[in-house]
Amino acid sequence: MSGVNEIRSAYLNYFAKNGHEIVPSSPLVPRNDPTLMFTNAGMVQFKNVFTGLEKRPYERATSSQKCVRAGGKHNDLDNVGYTARHHTFFEMLGNFSFGDYFKERAIELAWNLITKEYGLPKDRLLVTVYSEDEDAAKLWKKIAGLPESKIIRIGTSDNFWQMGDTGPCGPCSEIFFDHGDKIWGGPPGSPEEDGDRFIEIWNLVFMQFDQIAPGNRVALPKPSIDTGMGLERIAAVLQGKHDNYEIDLFVALIRAIAELTGADPQGEQKASLRVIADHLRASSFLISDGVLPSNEGRGYVLRRIMRRAMRHGQLLGAKEPLMYRLVWALVREMGQAYPELVRAENLIEETLKLEETRFRKTLDRGLTILDEKSASLKKGDMFDGETAFTLYDTYGFPLDLTQDALRNRGIGVDIASFTDAMEQQRKKARAAWAGSGDTATENIWFPLREKLGASEFLGYDTEIAEGVVTALVKDGKEIEAAATGDSVAIVMNQTPFYAESGGQVGDTGILSGDGVRVRVTDTQKKAGDLYVHLGTVEQGTLKLDLPLQLEVDHARRTSIRANHSATHLLHEALRQVLGDHIAQRGSLVAPERLRFDFAHNKPISADELRRIEDIANDVVLENGEVLTRSMAVDDARDSGARALFGEKYGDEVRVVSMGAGQGNALGWSVELCGGTHVRRTGDIGLISISGESAVASGVRRIEALTGNNARHAVNATIHTAKAAAAELKTTLDDLPARIAALVEERKKLENALSDARKKLAMGGGAAAGGGAAATSDIRTIGDVKFLGRAVQGIEMKDLKSLADDGKKQIGSGVVAIINVGEDGKAGAVVGVTADLTSRFSAVDLVKIASEALGGKGGGGRPDMAQAGGPDGAKADAALKAIEAAMGA
Ligand code: ALA
Repeated sequence: MSGVNEIRSAYLNYFAKNGHEIVPSSPLVPRNDPTLMFTNAGMVQFKNVFTGLEKRPYERATSSQKCVRAGGKHNDLDNVGYTARHHTFFEMLGNFSFGDYFKERAIELAWNLITKEYGLPKDRLLVTVYSEDEDAAKLWKKIAGLPESKIIRIGTSDNFWQMGDTGPCGPCSEIFFDHGDKIWGGPPGSPEEDGDRFIEIWNLVFMQFDQIAPGNRVALPKPSIDTGMGLERIAAVLQGKHDNYEIDLFVALIRAIAELTGADPQGEQKASLRVIADHLRASSFLISDGVLPSNEGRGYVLRRIMRRAMRHGQLLGAKEPLMYRLVWALVREMGQAYPELVRAENLIEETLKLEETRFRKTLDRGLTILDEKSASLKKGDMFDGETAFTLYDTYGFPLDLTQDALRNRGIGVDIASFTDAMEQQRKKARAAWAGSGDTATENIWFPLREKLGASEFLGYDTEIAEGVVTALVKDGKEIEAAATGDSVAIVMNQTPFYAESGGQVGDTGILSGDGVRVRVTDTQKKAGDLYVHLGTVEQGTLKLDLPLQLEVDHARRTSIRANHSATHLLHEALRQVLGDHIAQRGSLVAPERLRFDFAHNKPISADELRRIEDIANDVVLENGEVLTRSMAVDDARDSGARALFGEKYGDEVRVVSMGAGQGNALGWSVELCGGTHVRRTGDIGLISISGESAVASGVRRIEALTGNNARHAVNATIHTAKAAAAELKTTLDDLPARIAALVEERKKLENALSDARKKLAMGGGAAAGGGAAATSDIRTIGDVKFLGRAVQGIEMKDLKSLADDGKKQIGSGVVAIINVGEDGKAGAVVGVTADLTSRFSAVDLVKIASEALGGKGGGGRPDMAQAGGPDGAKADAALKAIEAAMGA
């Protein structure tokens, strides 16, 4: 057994054989810890299992855990490359008992593995125990037969293991390997212990307590076991090396770098080769776990690691971006054990390439400044902090890169003046906010942002995570605690809750822990990047510094993801069908629907809508992966990515692509977007356009549904159509023709009915012939003929034509027709033949009729006017009133 891969498998298989479940490594970004920047030990994913909070179907587990110790509490970044055993990324092998076996079995299992499976000689091994732990010392004697001289009692925190300020902990016992007297150093606890001769290879922690707060330690439900063995260290021991960078895995990586750069692995540039090899691992694994380079939080740690490696690439004389050309070698070495690396290979390559291309633009210039400004300095001097800040701010040099660049010459950086310069810049930014005109309540967020830093958003990769309450705001004021029933704004140091932006609504969900439960009804972004959860305390008292579990409403977020991705697909489909002028004017991505507004100056035809929907759904069915890249905003625009309306972009943007690229190499749809999306387009299920309308001149809106909402809407339409077909006793296919025929038939019938009514009304009917009014209806008032008639069931429009008919019939005179509707109300029309309009006005006469009918007014022309009134029973009286008026 020699290679790293075999050593790892042998470890896991050995524990599997001994009843342990092999559990895959958890991601580098811890889901279950509120304060830990990166997973830094194998037990992190089991934290809640030890305390009894979480139950798993096994009581014994083993894992090979990805760990990063850079940034945060454990920061080994500065030493990497210059020592034999520092790494930013390493693998921790471990076995765990959750209340199952304890000390004795743990020691037995460990001893058998290293002496029998790994075959390490007993005389090279020694152990430490916590000074108060006599049990452990006795067990080592009994099981391993180690003499007293090889069981070293240590009373310091070195032999009491704690995950962090809180969490499971207990005394521990470490196993050391003696590399022999050719190497300087003494056993643990001796004055020479810092030497390299005695190397710790395995830490067995006898977990007994849970540190719930500083000074407050309670017993775990059951004593448990947590162990950690650095894979790189044990590999070095088993491969007869003293230096971790000489194990097969690193030799292979360093060879790949040497081949590309021509550097000599044993020559002067050894440190650079090691830095690159180490940082390649850390960067690639971080990217595959969803971290992308940024200027805040975890993303900034990644950037620091990447840029540090990139400078060393430059030192090795690489003229072109180097890191991305090494990914294949890493995937070859580690892809089998960590399939996520294989899955993310393209993303890792692209991210490294983009970052290096971008950084190279300022790297040379920055290095020149660094050289010039440090030219006169000698060993022990300090480099000016203000220049270090300029390098940071303008040339993208993380502070540790500048420190690293000066390290070989023994020159430090004046941190105080660096921090000062940074503070000056912050002050300027603060002054700019003060004038931004925000309301007083809103103003509270800027100082908070300043004090707390940006919230770290974890929600691209997870919907559940832990965080710590860093601020509580009620009625525009900071508070220390919120009681049950209170509505508060809550800031956490990190959160999986998406805050409303780019059209996507804020997440809702539950915050819980320690007897507290808060229902979050919205999440908003304040002061740029402070995530504020708006909610109500449903239970307990919410206090500052409380660690809470944050759980996003999964079903709601799932629908939001689908709607957001569908919005991108529709955007591109609209462009393809309607033309390149389509520019986004606004959008809403809610759980139940999506809305997309865009520039276009005419309605979209049904046929166009169908094509848009078809094209978008074709990409859904392709079921390709949705990829997210982090790019410099200019690069992103140059690549043809579409930008969202109204979004403020930093210099760093996320670029979301979907579908197989045609014009754009990145994908079919490529957009700058900070939103959350489906993993594969197939997760959208179905896109159904539900509406098309105008919102303003030149701006159209489409609305659409996805997934089950789309399916339900489509089903409801089908249901309605089927019910209609059943009602008409026809098939779905024949339904439109059947309806058209019915409408046509109805029109004909209406016309026939209206004719019949007119005839009937005017006393005609088929028998009377020609629809003429009975002569007896015509009277003579003075010298004027008057035709007055009360009728029923005639439409207003037909009344006029009846009046016209009447005028024709009498040749000269006045016609008045009053219709009484089914509701009892009356409509009146008065017609005056042209020869008499100088004597009688139809308008005046109809007003008289209207008054009699209980109405008011009326209108029209002197030869034809109309009016109405509520009292149809007075129709005859109205006719009489007209007669009277004519006679007067
Ligand atoms: N959790 C222990 C460590 O990291 C094993 O050393």
